[in-house]
Amino acid sequence: MIGSDIHRAVELLREGQLVAIPTETVYGLGGNALDQIAVAEIFRVKERPFFDPLIIHVSDVQDISAFTLDFPDLLRQVADAFMPGPVTLLLDRNDKIPDLITSGLPQVAIRVPSHPITRELLSQLSFPVAAPSANPFGYISPTCAQHVEDQLGAKVPYILDGGDCSVGLESTIVGIEKGHLVVYRKGGIAVERLREIDKDIVVRTHSDSNPSAPGMLKSHYAPSCPMRIIDQFSLIPEDDYNEIGVISFSEAVSGVPEHQQCILSPSRDFNEAARNLFKGMRRLDGLDLRMIYVNLLPEEDLGIAINDRLRRAAV
Ligand code: TXA
Ligand code: MG
Repeated sequence: MIGSDIHRAVELLREGQLVAIPTETVYGLGGNALDQIAVAEIFRVKERPFFDPLIIHVSDVQDISAFTLDFPDLLRQVADAFMPGPVTLLLDRNDKIPDLITSGLPQVAIRVPSHPITRELLSQLSFPVAAPSANPFGYISPTCAQHVEDQLGAKVPYILDGGDCSVGLESTIVGIEKGHLVVYRKGGIAVERLREIDKDIVVRTHSDSNPSAPGMLKSHYAPSCPMRIIDQFSLIPEDDYNEIGVISFSEAVSGVPEHQQCILSPSRDFNEAARNLFKGMRRLDGLDLRMIYVNLLPEEDLGIAINDRLRRAAV
């Protein structure tokens, strides 16, 4: 059930039940992070393998240290610059964090979302909320309450409606290795902005061989309809126009029916494109097309994270 009753969401979470929560990045499937049964339920509802750890959400940067052994200076600078916001920190965890949350790994992923409704929710709770994106494992993340309802509505007691996500891409996951920042997942904070904190930042987001490593499995965010990246839409045979979809940054493909096209941002604004990406992928996926063709965006700003998602979604 979708609703906007924060009090109800608080009560359910206190009872150990799950609530889908809005964040500025994507909607999360939330549960009490310190309650093993609630956490196990998250994995069950998402059909997520236990080797893929969860992010915990707290209401304030000050709350982070309650769950960690230390807070290296570089990561503290990231927190000061971008939290609350679309960034997640990997920090050495203390023993308050259940093993299930981190899949047994020594570090825990922590995020302070900026969405006002979820900040209010978190401030009323005495525990952090574990929340992966509220989609079945491997599918596209939800960016509005209805997306959650469509797929998990029958399995989640309450979906807290916070409108459309203002960022629309998952958080950037950043940790530290050998004294330098390491990005494990490109996301809502562009790498260039983190480079201002550490010019030698490392980007390491591929983990085909080791799915338990941060940064995730290669195939992810995938629609049911096959997606293919092409350099030029002119390569699509015109005979196919009626049965294909198109995702493009700013330009339409003349001849392809309009509703089969998703133009991410006519004015070539990366933020707008990010907001529209998952919504567009889901909409096209619902049209029963034979193939969705995609053009990558320029490799800059949020275009980098958007392209990462498109590549992972493509066959
Ligand atoms: O924007 C977001 O981060 C959203 C919202 C709901 O907060 N959450 C999200 O969660 O995207 P999820 O579970 O869909 O993706 C989290 C990723 C996973 O791929 C996981 O591998 C990685 O973070 N991760 C979580 N905890 C980790 C840990 N302790 N060590 C390494 N990677 C971790
Ligand atoms: Mg996810």
